[in-house]
This record gives sequence, C-alpha cells and structure tokens, in this order.
Amino acid sequence: MRNTILVGAQWGDEGKGKVIDVLTADADVIVRFQGGSNAGHTVIVDGCKYVLHLIPSGILHPGKLCVIGNGVVMDPFDLLTEIEMLRERGIETEGRIYISDRAHMVMQWHRALDAADEALRTADKKIGTTGRGIGPTYGDKMGRSGFRVGDMLAPNFLANVREATEATNATLATMNAPPLDVERMVENYRSAADRLKEYITDSVSFINNADREGKSILLEGAQGTMLDIDFGTYPFVTSSNPTAGGACTGSGLSPRKIDRVVGVIKCYTTRVGAGPFPTELDDEMGEQLRRNGGEFGATTGRPRRCGWFDAVVGRYAAIVNGVDYWAMTKLDVLDDVETIRICTAYEGENGERHEVFPADLSVLDRCHPVYEEMQGWMSETSDITRYEDLPLKARAYVERLVELIGGQLGILSVGPARETTLRLGL
Ligand code: GDP
Ligand code: IMO
Ligand code: MG
Repeated sequence: MRNTILVGAQWGDEGKGKVIDVLTADADVIVRFQGGSNAGHTVIVDGCKYVLHLIPSGILHPGKLCVIGNGVVMDPFDLLTEIEMLRERGIETEGRIYISDRAHMVMQWHRALDAADEALRTADKKIGTTGRGIGPTYGDKMGRSGFRVGDMLAPNFLANVREATEATNATLATMNAPPLDVERMVENYRSAADRLKEYITDSVSFINNADREGKSILLEGAQGTMLDIDFGTYPFVTSSNPTAGGACTGSGLSPRKIDRVVGVIKCYTTRVGAGPFPTELDDEMGEQLRRNGGEFGATTGRPRRCGWFDAVVGRYAAIVNGVDYWAMTKLDVLDDVETIRICTAYEGENGERHEVFPADLSVLDRCHPVYEEMQGWMSETSDITRYEDLPLKARAYVERLVELIGGQLGILSVGPARETTLRLGL
C-alpha cells in the first residue's frame, strides 16, 4: 500500500503522533494537511519525548521528507521555534522540511483576535480554543483576505502587513482588546520571511511528483472527526476538515491516489475544550483515566475531560472517513479498571435510539448513553509484544469495540513508546 491517510476518530489526542511515527518507517513523504499549531502530537523515541505542532511527526525518522501542506495554517514563529527545538536535540532538518506556498499564515493579529473573540463570548458560548489563532486565520482564508506563505516572497509583503495590522487595530479597539505595535509587526515578519524563504515549495508539484515516482505518501491529520467544521459538534469544533476528505483538499493529492485510510481511536474517550461529550465521567473513574493516561493537553497543558468509549462516535468516524484500518491506542490505561463500560447508542426520553451522531446538539441533552459492561483484565499489558499474548479479556474488549464500529484492527498500542505497538497487518 502506497498512500495512506491517517485521521483522528474522536475529539483529537487519540495518539496520532505515535501512530504516524510507527507508520513512517514504511513511508517516504509525510504531509500535514490541515490545522495549525493547535495540534500537539507526541512521539517518544529512545525515552525522549517530542511534541510536534506543525512539522509532521515523521521528522523523527532520518531521511524522511516532511511537507506542511496547503491546507495547514502555519504560524511562522511557532514553526521557527519548532525547527530550533529539533535542531537543538540533534534531529537533522536540513533539506527535509517543505512548506506549501499555498498554505495560509497565522498572523499575530489572528492570535489576538482568537483571544478577543473567546473573551467576548458568554460562558455557554465559549469554545475553549487553544488560542493559536486558528479560527480567525481560516476565516480570512475563506473570506479571501488571508496571507499565504508564498506572499512572503512578494515585494509588497511588508507593506501589506503594515496595512493589515492597522486595520486589525481598528477591529481590536471595538473588541476592547489592546492594539498591536505596527512597527514591531513589520520587523517580525521581515525577519520571519528571511528565515523561512528557503523552505517555501510548490507542494502540489512536490507531492504529485513523489507519487509519480512511486514514493509512499503518508497524510497526517490533526485534531479529530468530532472537531471537524462540517461533521463535528458544531460550533464546538476547530475551523478545518480533519476528516479524510480534508487530506485531499489539504495536499493536492487526488482521492484516486489514496490507497487506504487509517483511523486512530483511543480505547476510551477524551475531549479538551468545551462542547458535548455524552460519555464524560465527572467522577473518580474519570480521574483515574486522566491519571493513568496522562490526559493533559500537549499544547495547552489543560486537563482533558475523560469518559468511556463511545461506539456511536466510532461508527460515525468509520463512515465519514471510510476507515479501512483502526489504530487503537492506550489499551494499557484500562489495565486496572475492574468493570469497563462501552456506549453502544444514545437513548431518548421516549425510548428512541440514536446510533448515528446527531447534527442537532440539543438532541443530546434529551438523551442518555446506553452502556454495556465488560470485565477488565486487571493485569499489565505494556510489556506484551504479540496480540495473541494479551489477556483474553483484553482481546475480548478490543474485539468488541471493533465489532461495534466496523472495519479492521491494524495496530494496537499498549504504551506511549515506539516499541509498545502491536501490528496486525498494517
Ligand atoms: P495526538 O494529538 O493524537 O498525536 O495525541 P497526543 O500526543 O496529544 O496525546 C496522546 C498521548 O498519549 C501522548 O502523551 C502519547 O505519548 C500517549 N500515548 C499514545 N499511545 C499510547 C498508548 O498506547 N498508551 C499510553 N499509555 N500512552 C499513549
Ligand atoms: P491534536 O492534533 C484536541 C480543540 C480545542 C477547542 C477546539 C477549537 O493534538 O489532536 P482551535 O484552537 O482549533 O480553534 O480550538 O478544538 N482542539 C483540539 N483538541 N486535540 C487537538 O489537536 C486540538 N486542536 C484543537 O481544545 O475545543
Ligand atoms: Mg494532541
């Protein structure tokens, strides 16, 4: 199989970074196709932890080429910090990072607008964004007034930065937010353009040439299906398409060139930020999952909300993305849970069942999750290297999840490190 799309199936943080790192061994080019530095993808190699926000998680394999695709919103300063972090830690970046000339840039005023917008929302309307300027940047992209990476090379770039900063200051004033320093902004972007110009690439040609040469391309999604602007729990979503369709529009690789779709899904559920979460646990069990799973945001450090596995979400993600293989993660987090619950449907006041995620979020207020229970295996799984050696109850749990959501199990992850990965035909 040559070209693979990898997406998150839940509300993000499913362990995409780890799975990308594992699959990169078989790939040549790794492409991030949407989102920005709101993402935090953790990879652990030889005991060292790396958190990547913009650069594809394939960067930790020497020699692999990494592309920031046209669908990404790229903050130049975050990217420079990330490149610096990798260099300091001895990761070769020279000639390995390519930024699409068509990608939009998160400008510093987008971050200011993100913060100002959140501050103005009433408590029940706050999204709990990561504050990385994502919504305002995609807003400008769709509104056709954004800055693209290729614009940094144009002679009028700094004049346009000046003009946009002045216009934004007028907007910020109406939002009771402090103005930006125009001269500092121009200086910042002069320096960013200077340092980043060597990375700017016609990514559409680059990716399609690689495909023509028979190279294997791995398309790395950020966030997750339930945070998708179209398919997620709108308005409590991000502003891009983290689902499989977004991989084609965000890279310029045709859907006809895609060979398989991998969905990354946790053996339970988490969410960071506001919005509905039917299987959320507000009790000691939720605390235990957070503790065992280290469920704190890789980008913002916020505690993640935790809950039981939701097969309604899993089934929905299978449909929307056309998942061929599941990469199921964090089984080990349930090692000491005596009784595990699985949500199979949502049930309304009059007994009506919802087996597909509803568009109308108010339906969820009138529903409760229907659970089935399974016995936990109560033993450690992290040292296990073959699927056959897992406790029978652990296998039964995993197999039940796959049965409920459809598709095939391709990877089972039993720990954060590269080695703690059971591969089953993927
Ligand atoms: P991503 O955003 O989907 O890449 O996921 P994050 O990196 O934000 O969060 C996943 C967290 O779980 C990271 O801290 C990973 O190191 C960790 N992780 C990934 N897979 C496993 C696993 O199978 N078991 C355990 N215990 N941790 C895992
Ligand atoms: P990875 O790639 C989890 C959430 C935010 C917020 C909503 C909108 O690491 O899985 P935004 O800053 O995008 O405007 O915030 O989306 N969110 C994520 N949650 N993992 C992520 O990325 C996320 N990126 C954004 O918490 O609820
Ligand atoms: Mg993350």
